[in-house]
Amino acid sequence: MAESKNGRHAHIVGWGKYVPSKVLTNADLAQIVDTSDEWIVTRTGIHERRIAGPKDTSASMGLIAAKEALEHAGVRPHEVDLIIVATATPEYAFPATACLIQDALGAVNAGAFDLSAGCTGFMYALAVGAQAIQSGAHKIVLVIGSETLSRIMDWKDRSTCVLFGDGAGAIVLSAGNSSGGILSTICRSDGSGGDLLIVPGGGSRCPTSHQTVDQGLHFIKMNGREVFRFAARVMDKSAREVAARAGIDIGDVQLIIPHQANLRIIRAAARALDLPEERFFINLQYYGNTSSASIPIAICEAVEQGKLNPGDHCILVGFGAGLTWAATLVKWGAPKPLHEMTRFERIYARLLYLGAGIRSRLMRALLRIESALPLPRSSDRNGKRKK
Ligand code: COA
Repeated sequence: MAESKNGRHAHIVGWGKYVPSKVLTNADLAQIVDTSDEWIVTRTGIHERRIAGPKDTSASMGLIAAKEALEHAGVRPHEVDLIIVATATPEYAFPATACLIQDALGAVNAGAFDLSAGCTGFMYALAVGAQAIQSGAHKIVLVIGSETLSRIMDWKDRSTCVLFGDGAGAIVLSAGNSSGGILSTICRSDGSGGDLLIVPGGGSRCPTSHQTVDQGLHFIKMNGREVFRFAARVMDKSAREVAARAGIDIGDVQLIIPHQANLRIIRAAARALDLPEERFFINLQYYGNTSSASIPIAICEAVEQGKLNPGDHCILVGFGAGLTWAATLVKWGAPKPLHEMTRFERIYARLLYLGAGIRSRLMRALLRIESALPLPRSSDRNGKRKK
């Protein structure tokens, strides 16, 4: 997948994030399972992670991140054409979490769907969103990664519960004629490694039952060592490949934003790419592995910290369950200063979201009234009712 050939380019014009306020430190975890701060830090680099509160869900967190991203972009909800939510922890099997966010935003002109590609989900969603723009099909695409992994965690399994955290990130992609934005993308998979990282219960193969719950099949199961090997294998290769596709020398890339799973994996990639560790953006010490949310949260923080500036080449690279992996090379072009909302615009945005809530409740009420009415009978061609 390469940059648009028809003059339409997909630019990242807005970004937002949300992390729950509850911090769970390694010391807290050592009270729950047989582990230690020293073990977790030396094996993973993680010091703490955020855990969803009772009211936080993948939709509620994704919604907050999405609102912030739209605000940065100066885009109104009705201008959004498509909403893609990458998540391994959707609100429900269906409806899609993306539809819940669409409704809450009042994005009345948008299609919406969820995308499942494990921790690579956001990268896949970014690729799909960029291509929807480059093809000319859409102008504004909202791409969200949102996870409440704490709800599918086995808090008795020390080999997994120390790794993951909750949170959400979002970006707004916009069509533009100026070059830059998403320059190249690769998406890859190897389903033969599917059982290395899996939630075995609750799907069509193994539907939820007392037995599946008793056996804890609704929790994440992982072969950490094999996943580690796979990740270390694909990170540098995909970064090199995506740079070559864009015709950019890897040494000329100002920043690499990797999936935030494990510091040792990132260090292995840095060594393999012969790049200094400082070239990589790392925030996993604060959040752990937030799966599909990790890269968009990292994008937000890289911009906030001045590590991603207009004109920079940046590689995003992720890997995860499936097995899946993907990389994207972006020429960062977001204008500085960002679109700062005026007081009037803020009030207007709040009114829009309030209106979206009222509209949603009205639509539900209408549906209830409609469902209480008898169905219209089918008519024959002459307008006579069939018997
Ligand atoms: N605290 C203390 N000891 C722990 C532990 C914990 N939280 N978790 C596992 N251990 C123990 C194991 O039981 C094992 O003990 P044993 O040798 O007596 O059997 C020992 O530590 C070593 O386990 P091992 O699996 O070899 O450790 P490791 O160096 O491979 O590190 C991971 C384990 C999980 C940190 C590492 O494999 C990893 O990060 N893998 C990738 C996971 C990942 O990123 N998944 C998401 C992909 S999107």
